[in-house]
Amino acid sequence: MSASAAIGVAYLVASLTFIIGLRMLSSPVTANRGNRVAAAGMTIALIATLLTPGLANYGLIAAGIIVGGAIGAGSARKVRMTAMPQMVAIFNGMGGGAAALVSSLEFVHRTSGGGTLQTGQAFTIALGAAIGSVSFAGSLIAFAKLQEIMKGNALQFQWTKIASGLLVVAVLALVVVITLGTDTIPVLIALLAVAVILGLVLVIPIGGADMPVVISLMNSLTGLAAALTGFVLNNELLIVAGALVGASGTLLTRLMARAMNRPLSNVLFGSFGATVTGGGELPAGATVREISVDDAAVLMSYSQRVVIVPGYGLAVAQAQHQVRELADILSSRGVQVKYAIHPVAGRMPGHMNVLLAEADVPYSEVYEMDAINGEFPSTDVVLVVGANDITNPAARSDPSSPIYGMPILNVDEAQHIIVLKRSMRPGFAGIDNPLYYNPRTAMLFGDAKDSLQKLVAAAKTVAMPRERRTRSGEPEVVQR
Ligand code: TAP
Repeated sequence: MSASAAIGVAYLVASLTFIIGLRMLSSPVTANRGNRVAAAGMTIALIATLLTPGLANYGLIAAGIIVGGAIGAGSARKVRMTAMPQMVAIFNGMGGGAAALVSSLEFVHRTSGGGTLQTGQAFTIALGAAIGSVSFAGSLIAFAKLQEIMKGNALQFQWTKIASGLLVVAVLALVVVITLGTDTIPVLIALLAVAVILGLVLVIPIGGADMPVVISLMNSLTGLAAALTGFVLNNELLIVAGALVGASGTLLTRLMARAMNRPLSNVLFGSFGATVTGGGELPAGATVREISVDDAAVLMSYSQRVVIVPGYGLAVAQAQHQVRELADILSSRGVQVKYAIHPVAGRMPGHMNVLLAEADVPYSEVYEMDAINGEFPSTDVVLVVGANDITNPAARSDPSSPIYGMPILNVDEAQHIIVLKRSMRPGFAGIDNPLYYNPRTAMLFGDAKDSLQKLVAAAKTVAMPRERRTRSGEPEVVQR
């Protein structure tokens, strides 16, 4: 087998591992293994690429791998779970930038010494460079906003929409100019510069809390740029990998927008969170009821069914281990405990699943929204841990609410609702939550971790209900 055929086979194997790995990421049970399978594929691809005949500059490549690998491994080890979106943003930006650089270098190589590009090549290179640059700049802004290097609030400037439109036209015009044969370096530099400005102008007005959707969109652009680079380099693996990233990023963007019931145009140009919005009109004389730790512990311990609803506040408080501890105590007392996960709970896809997995919560106890929504009327207590918008009944009943139409967890249908949060401040959408004024709702104010620690301590002291004791006085063993 010739060297190029062997490399082709290695690339095919690597492509398959990427597809299989991606498939395995769709379930928390197989996600870890899926990651390893894809990483093994990437290793095969790297080795095959390094063995490409005629490759030079091994010293420079080794330096790049060592420096890049050390930065990547170091930051991945250190990153806090809540900082994961910004890490994805910066890594994604690097991918977009790399794709733009590779396209640009190919442009320089192929046009130097009086060479000219074929129309198809010129188009692919120009588009790859432009898309990669947009993704690079947009992702850096997303990183800066989430890392709080830049102000994260949404801005409502009419001019940014007009400027974005004009910049898109300018980028397309420059791509056409290059495609039609004006392949000079100044035109390429102009294209890169305009595309970078487009990325900045597009993302700067978007609020920090919408960044996960933006990152996912930028991710799909990076995938597209990488696939275009694959065409330029004649590298099938890059085409496949880029297409997979592009497609999965696009799907994820659509899924997130749909789960929030907001069209993508609203995320990009709607300035969600720019002001505290109205909606969620409260009944006159609405009052908020508080509950003590002891009463909450007794209520849950004497229940048959408890559903825990985690939200962004759980991630902020890093209270996943305490929530599991409380669930274990309740289960040991004969209470059936389930967790209900909303598709956009927290600030990134799968945020709650990852946190609960970190605390070794059994997957069998974790339910998606559609699977559990019908169970709330027969639930004795719902414990809402730092969740707000995803439980807001205004989304169902108030057409004036900005989140009207967003599917929610119907926790207000339960017999009792206990909400753990620090104050009456709103969540991501900036609106009041009528759930808190429901006569069946009781608030337990405080940091979620602190409140859960107190609940754990209190639940341990609650006497076992008589009917749940075995003859020996020991708690019944509950089938989980
Ligand atoms: P939010 O509506 O943002 O509510 C979180 C609540 O947690 C806040 O009301 C806050 O109240 C409370 N909180 C914060 N820190 C806390 C702490 N240390 N201890 C206790 N409570 C704490 O979160 P959610 O219900 O998870 O909804 C997610 C929102 O994010 C949705 O609007 C969704 O559309 C949006 N979003 C999600 C995603 C993805 S992919 N998940 C992406 C973009 C946007 P206090 O300040 O009073 O404590």
